[in-house]
Amino acid sequence: MSPRINFLSREYLENPHPHLAELRRQGPVVQVDPGGMWAVTHHDEAQYVLKSPQLFSSSGMRFAFSPEWLGRVNPLSYSMPFLDPPQHGRLRALVTQAFTPKALARLEFHLHATARTCVDDMLEKRQVDFVDALSTPIPASVIAHLLGLDDLRYAQLRQWTADIAAISGVQPGDTAQMARCRATVDAMDGYSRQVLADRRREPREDMVSDLLQARVGTEALTDDELVGFFLALLVAGLETTGTLLTHCARMFAMQPELLPRLRATPTLVPRFIDETLRYESPVQSIVRTCTEDATLAGVALPRGALVLVSLLSASRDAKYFPDGDQFILERESQQNLSFGHGIHFCLGARLARMEARIALEEFVSRVGRVELRTERLDWMPSLLLRGPTTLPVELLPA
Ligand code: HEM
Repeated sequence: MSPRINFLSREYLENPHPHLAELRRQGPVVQVDPGGMWAVTHHDEAQYVLKSPQLFSSSGMRFAFSPEWLGRVNPLSYSMPFLDPPQHGRLRALVTQAFTPKALARLEFHLHATARTCVDDMLEKRQVDFVDALSTPIPASVIAHLLGLDDLRYAQLRQWTADIAAISGVQPGDTAQMARCRATVDAMDGYSRQVLADRRREPREDMVSDLLQARVGTEALTDDELVGFFLALLVAGLETTGTLLTHCARMFAMQPELLPRLRATPTLVPRFIDETLRYESPVQSIVRTCTEDATLAGVALPRGALVLVSLLSASRDAKYFPDGDQFILERESQQNLSFGHGIHFCLGARLARMEARIALEEFVSRVGRVELRTERLDWMPSLLLRGPTTLPVELLPA
């Protein structure tokens, strides 16, 4: 029997696709490391797990974000991605009240201005880290705008969210990284409680003030739930969308013909975004726990087993995506699971697509070529997110 694949090994993080192809050949459900989790690699089974919360609980996400070494409950655990029905539905109904299309439309103008400034700056410098230059400021400015965080420095926010994302990848015995993650959780908790106190005293036109007002019947969000949602928005809104933009830039560098195509036909930008989401899903996996003994694709899973749904693998399943290892701009499939499926389907999907579209429209209209300026990329040490931590590039104007 071949040794189990470790989803946190350097070899896997650098290029997971051959490993996932091998797992798909072995079957839809295969045991992997760390921790002997069960990886779900085929699209049908991935979809089934995500739409069966009664059997596959989101409490599994706590394994990734709230390990024992943290020494406290990660306040993120009080937020929607970690909850099952009926708590999940109650919170989602409350939060959706503050997440309207109208609120998003108000962001458009702000986004165009931010994207323009970033691209001006990048073209002036020519050699930049794309993550610092575009992938961070675009979603950070949106989240700061939505939540009314005018005092927040983007570099600080990025460091925080990167540390939170890295919790799932901390190796046993790496006490320095554990201490750093603990300090970050404390700092984010303190910061968000301060913002809540400020908005209670002085409400504003922002999502935090809206959430303080939101009610289902007579019920409001508790303080822990508010802090949890605040942190969830910072992490879910920043790291994911930023990583999507970084993957887009990497695609431009790997396939130089894409940029002129999109410049000639900007209406292809949304399709380019969808194919990038499929090709390199920024959320690579979602974790669930079996609530009872279950059988999935003939594999017996004991109660309490951790199930790792690989969105990255499902997005290359040949049944739905022929030639899945090829980046095909004309691909028509609507079966992409990058934003999840079922009751936890991403609340920010529309916003993320809007951010990426506006940033890329500005980028492709003015940049002629992207060249990678490194031999080797460092990948996020995370079970859940997939993306390079930096992307040194040189840009040539159109
Ligand atoms: C490209 C960018 C993004 C990707 C790939 C992405 C992906 C996902 C995925 C896969 C889930 C499902 C998690 C699960 O089933 O456990 C999810 C949930 C969620 N996302 Fe996103 N997301 C993105 C951007 C955003 C943005 C911009 C926001 C908000 C500002 C956001 C907020 C959320 C929230 C609140 C949930 C939890 C929903 C629930 O549990 O009901 N996401 N996202």
